[in-house]
Order: sequence, then C-alpha cells, then structure tokens
Amino acid sequence: MAYYSKTGNTEKIAKKIQKVLEPIGKVELFKIEMANEYSSRLLHLNPRITFDCLFRRKPEIKATKNLEKYDALIIGSPIWYFTIAPPVNTFIDKLEKAKGKKAVIFVSSGMGREKFTKSLQEKLLSKGAKIVKSISIKLDRIDQGTLQEICDALKS
Ligand SMILES: Cc1cc2nc3c(=O)[nH]c(=O)nc-3n(C[C@H](O)[C@H](O)[C@H](O)COP(=O)(O)O)c2cc1C
Repeated sequence: MAYYSKTGNTEKIAKKIQKVLEPIGKVELFKIEMANEYSSRLLHLNPRITFDCLFRRKPEIKATKNLEKYDALIIGSPIWYFTIAPPVNTFIDKLEKAKGKKAVIFVSSGMGREKFTKSLQEKLLSKGAKIVKSISIKLDRIDQGTLQEICDALKS
C-alpha cells in the first residue's frame, strides 16, 4: 500500500486498512516522500502546492516501487484543489508492472465527495491497473462497513 499524507489523515486511513487486511495477508506500507517536501506552514497559501496542483506537475520523489512481487496495489492520496497530491501523480507515473494488477484506491478530503476519486482512478487506469474498489473519505473517518468492503473486493 502506497500513500502520501501531509497532515496525517490519509496515513491514519492507510493504517486502518492495513490492520483490517492483516488476517488476509501481509500488507507493506510505503509512504511516498518528496525529494523536496512542501513546507508545512500555511498549506492553503503555499504557492508551490497551488502551482503543482493546478498544472498537474510531477515533483521529484525519493523512491518508487516495482509491483512485480505484489498481488495487489492499494493507493491513497489527500485531495488538494480537487485533485490528487502532486507526489502521488509522480509515484503513479513511475510505477512499474501495474498492468493488470488489482488496485484499491482511496482519497481523503475535507468534503468527502464521491467524485474526488476520479483523478486517482483515471491516473491509475492509464497504467493499466484493474480498479476493484474506489473510496472517498471525509478526513480520516473510514467506517467498519467500508473497511469490510475493501477486504471483500481484494478477496474476490
Ligand atoms: C492545499 C490544500 C488544498 C485542499 N483542497 C481540498 C479540496 O479541493 N477539497 C476538499 O474537500 N478538501 C481539500 N483539502 C482538505 C484535505 O483534502 C484534507 O484535509 C485531507 O484529509 C488531508 O489529508 P492528509 O491529512 O493525509 O494530508 C485541501 C487541503 C489543503 C492543505
């Protein structure tokens, strides 16, 4: 499971998903890290974030992943300005062996709108992954029912 998180919500969701999947199989957590992380001060006024989101830029990240040895990919991102966080954009771009892989995607946002999954879905579909579940969460409020749905989607 790979995720980026700035203020901790996406990370909390990632850990809850990891926990619920424990009985099914091992889930490796991979935190996407930027080579030059955005400053944490005044996030909403950060021109670099606004610019990168607006122009769908792909800022450099520290490391990427080859999916060959994994059965499935779970990927999470915060929503910034109606789209995924730019480092997640970079991560997916560099992702190898995603073709045909089962994938679960989740996004965290202030509003929790269903349509916020679209940017991550489209990006991953462009790599040929097979999305089995897409989830939009308000902040870190994922419920048991949704966690169970993720388990079911990965089992089938
Ligand atoms: C720069 C910035 C832009 C954001 N844009 C949106 C947005 O367009 N829609 C929304 O619902 N929430 C937006 N949010 C709220 C975040 O998506 C939300 O706080 C999310 O849980 C953050 O995830 P994180 O704690 O893993 O970083 C924005 C937050 C920041 C800092």
